[in-house]
Amino acid sequence: MSNPSLLILPGDGIGPEVMAEVRRVIDWFGDKRGLKFDVSEDLVGGSAYDAHGTPLTDETMAKAQEVDAVLLGAVGGPKYDVLDFSVKPERGLLRLRKEMDLYANLRPAQCFDALADFSSLKKDVVAGLDIVIVRELTSGIYFGEPRGIIEEGNERVGINTQRYTESEIDRVARSAFELAMRRGKKLCSMEKANVMESGILWREVVTEVGKEYPEVELSHMYADAGAMQLCRWPKQFDVIVTDNLFGDLLSDAAAMLTGSLGMLPSASLGAPMANGRPKALYEPVHGSAPDIAGQGKANPIACILSFAMALRYSFDKGDEATRLEQAIENVLAKGYRTADLLGEEGKQPVSTSEMGTAILEALDESL
Ligand code: NAI
Ligand code: MG
Repeated sequence: MSNPSLLILPGDGIGPEVMAEVRRVIDWFGDKRGLKFDVSEDLVGGSAYDAHGTPLTDETMAKAQEVDAVLLGAVGGPKYDVLDFSVKPERGLLRLRKEMDLYANLRPAQCFDALADFSSLKKDVVAGLDIVIVRELTSGIYFGEPRGIIEEGNERVGINTQRYTESEIDRVARSAFELAMRRGKKLCSMEKANVMESGILWREVVTEVGKEYPEVELSHMYADAGAMQLCRWPKQFDVIVTDNLFGDLLSDAAAMLTGSLGMLPSASLGAPMANGRPKALYEPVHGSAPDIAGQGKANPIACILSFAMALRYSFDKGDEATRLEQAIENVLAKGYRTADLLGEEGKQPVSTSEMGTAILEALDESL
């Protein structure tokens, strides 16, 4: 059998810097754990525009459709602000998400013990936190018609429409139940069925899909109450599934429970492929960070954790993903901090590659 395939798209700014550390981690798993991947690398975003005049070539798009998983760094930067909308770096990423039809966006909020003090919440509220928010990504109010700004009488009206079909709810619910099955078997669905018809349908369809997953304990919550509960006692949750708009807000809020942007991975999943694996794109939540690009200051952990998600969700290597996450936990416990993780003054930060090296050493210690 051939090795699983991985397409790496480092992108712009700190993207290539953090991805270089991920490459070392991938090589480590190949050398030390016999986990070989067929890795190919290509351009996306501004770097693709510089080389080809487009933020994503058709060849790269076709490649992304074929591989088992795509790993992306970040795109964009001030240099490209002057470009026409149609060739802006973000268009490359949007094209990937759209053509791969990645409708389930997984945003974990995971608190590493060593960083629990870094949270704005009390330590015992966040220590050991490990939840995932599944946000519907391709429909809902950001896409619904009618939309626009119209004239009505003597004033203007801004219109957006929340619209969900049964099949759109069904498929993202399935992704969430599958995820819950691999985790704590607990799923909370959030909408506003009290005031929105799309929420009533959402609740009905999720409940229906849930009958196929009797092992998963399903609950429902109004999204505003969910926001309160996320701040009050987030550890009550395991997996949360919600629509595009509520998911946008709730995942950003949940992310901040755990500290820095430099620590946050994500996955976007689509329909299962012929081999049973979902189409998948893994990427850190952060952008290209032009303010620190080229200085060796970037925290590579968000991107490395995105690879850990790939191990778990695309390659069925949950044990190896845990090994990698544990190595990161150990490195943080030893006090290694990139600049973004240093609250107090006087401490010396480690560089991007020093953090990578420390993680490889911790991986060696795990053997
Ligand atoms: P950003 O996430 O790039 O940076 C926000 C702040 O967080 C900056 O101060 C940055 O230095 C810091 N930061 C981000 N990642 C870090 C890391 N790994 N280690 C240490 N510090 C880190 O967001 P911003 O500044 O709004 O956008 C910059 C560029 O990135 C823009 O061109 C934007 O369009 C693009 N962008 C791309 C995204 C993507 O590729 N998915 C997502 C968000 C923004
Ligand atoms: Mg957002």
